[in-house]
Amino acid sequence: MSSRVLVLNGPNLRRLGTREPDVYGASTFDDLVALCRETGRRLDLHVEVRQTDDEAEMIRWVHEAADERLPVVINPAAFTHYSYGLRDALAQRTAPLVEVHISNPAAREEFRHTSVVAGVATGTIAGFGMLSYVLALQAVAELIAQDAAKS
Ligand code: DQA
Repeated sequence: MSSRVLVLNGPNLRRLGTREPDVYGASTFDDLVALCRETGRRLDLHVEVRQTDDEAEMIRWVHEAADERLPVVINPAAFTHYSYGLRDALAQRTAPLVEVHISNPAAREEFRHTSVVAGVATGTIAGFGMLSYVLALQAVAELIAQDAAKS
């Protein structure tokens, strides 16, 4: 049976395609959903893609993942830079957690150089456009396979 993985997206990411295309590219959120699902099929992962502009909803999803031992790929968007509430929720993780960004925040404004969630993630992938999500799902599939080989 394929493993479930949540791909969680924070504020403004539903507006991909029209939102600052010079920074985030021309692909829409629906394109991102299709790409993640297709990547999941290839890697034998059951991928569920969600987006919210609401911090409380995002934290509830992270609690759900912790309770159900689900791996998470998360683009926390602006929450990355200031949400200690989200960080504390992610710190409760019970499975691999990959932080992703479409752009490379380290090459942008100063306030984007800080990630308050990076320290509780397994790792971070940033700067590859939509490919960041593909690489993150590949990392999750690899980590699941390593875990299975151990047990
Ligand atoms: C982002 C980078 C963040 O700084 C920004 O607030 C976003 C998107 C990215 O994917 O490049 O909303 O997470």
